[in-house]
Amino acid sequence: MILLSILTLSFLLFSLLIFKYEQTKKKYTQFPGWEQFVPPLWFAKRLPTFIRPHVNDALQVMWSHAREGYLKFGDTFKLVFPSLAYVFVSDPEFSKFVALNHDKYFEKNMKRSQAVRQVIGNNVFNSIEDSIWKRHRMLLNPAFSDKTMFVVADATTLVAQQLIQQIDADADRDVISDMSNLTLNAGFGHDFDAFSTESQSDPKSVMNSQARFFYNGTFFALFPKFMRSEKFRFIPFLDQYFSDLNTFSDAVNKIIEERLVGSENENNDILSLLINAAKSTRLDQVPDDSRPLSNKEMVSNCLMFIVAGHETTARTLAFGFRLLALNRHIQKRAQLHVDQVLGSAEHPTYEQMDQLTFIHNIMNETLRLYPAAVGTERIVIREFEFKNRKFPVGTHCLIHWNNMQRDDKYFENANDFRPERWDLDANKQKSFANTAFGVGKRSCIGKRFAEVEMVFVFAMILKRFNVECVDEMSELDLEVNMTLMAKTPIKLRFTKR
Ligand code: HEM
Repeated sequence: MILLSILTLSFLLFSLLIFKYEQTKKKYTQFPGWEQFVPPLWFAKRLPTFIRPHVNDALQVMWSHAREGYLKFGDTFKLVFPSLAYVFVSDPEFSKFVALNHDKYFEKNMKRSQAVRQVIGNNVFNSIEDSIWKRHRMLLNPAFSDKTMFVVADATTLVAQQLIQQIDADADRDVISDMSNLTLNAGFGHDFDAFSTESQSDPKSVMNSQARFFYNGTFFALFPKFMRSEKFRFIPFLDQYFSDLNTFSDAVNKIIEERLVGSENENNDILSLLINAAKSTRLDQVPDDSRPLSNKEMVSNCLMFIVAGHETTARTLAFGFRLLALNRHIQKRAQLHVDQVLGSAEHPTYEQMDQLTFIHNIMNETLRLYPAAVGTERIVIREFEFKNRKFPVGTHCLIHWNNMQRDDKYFENANDFRPERWDLDANKQKSFANTAFGVGKRSCIGKRFAEVEMVFVFAMILKRFNVECVDEMSELDLEVNMTLMAKTPIKLRFTKR
């Protein structure tokens, strides 16, 4: 009897799935692409914890679909599952369309971060509701304005000098690890001691706690909503999860309290920028809800800044140095340019940053070839037509700029590293084909922050060292985790000029 009930129920469920699948397929007949009854993403998300490192295979699968589909079907194609339909679009005109019509037709897909949002609350990155996002963005905007970026320049100079000392002692480097430590330190490390060996090897250090907190987020999301609470800390995984969050929150709260009683000008790090910005924004300029950011919201934003800002910048620097090692004539040109702008100084001043035009070109070209964020996702909230195709409500649009940036249609010899192409106005104008920092209102708040860090580090290292390949460099084996990554370390040799 029980067996019969189970069989009947399974049959009904299966029939329902088939029905849904047929319905979804009908909505997307106008699009070329794939229809797939069993979604790889669905499986990957449900993998048990002991093989969790592979959960992000889901992103990898989507990324390879994006490349394969672009070559097979063109710039717009579908991947349809029973309950979900993705439409991949790699078309500069579509990027422009999203930027211009964001609120009318689209919503940022932040559903996956629902579980984390439940415990850390909203921040500028994960908020969906427009009024909440606007309040965070407007309160934080001043921290990222041109006026405050000299603080980032000073912090980066300090940390790059420490790295130069390490390179002086040992010329053979793993640049991914070096750049990762550097961007953590320049952005936040002063407060959290990210560079010290003790901190790196202590599993309870603030930086290791925050890293683990985000890494464990995928598994945390598998717990039912009512269990995502401190009341369930008797389960060892949840105990670890909340203890990691508390370690980070306590550290940020302590700093906030110290800063609030101290002088605003005393501190030169990102946290001070955030606190000062949130304190000084005129509240009458903030729409809807004019409360300043609470300590919890500040902690939430800080966590997000580390995640969104540190790996992205570090990976770009590492890819950039590898490209320079492989293209020695371009490296030489960059060094001469740095010498010309800096003279005998070892590092640029903030005022000199925009004169380092060729270094900007190197950064843009690296981001074009290896965009740290390969694309973005928007959910359609109102049906629209684009190039004679209807995009139904609920469609997940995956905008993959990686495809456009590697297409000869938009960039001549697109796979070549040619920083000088950025001198040509025609290419700069193709900004919707090259959107490494996103498009429209939800584009990167930290763009200038990242640019300052990258231009300073490229300039300071090139001023002092030649960058060489250690071994025969083969084609980079890439994967997409949170960001675009190399599967193996990037080893380079830095010799004094
Ligand atoms: C090379 C470095 C970086 C790259 C390539 C990059 C890329 C991006 C992209 C593509 C987006 C848009 C995502 C979307 O539309 O869904 C974004 C958003 C964002 N980025 Fe960055 N980013 C970088 C550095 C940074 C830094 C240094 C910070 C902070 C210190 C930061 C903070 C953020 C935040 C908070 C958002 C969300 C903005 C919002 O929704 O209003 N990023 N970034």
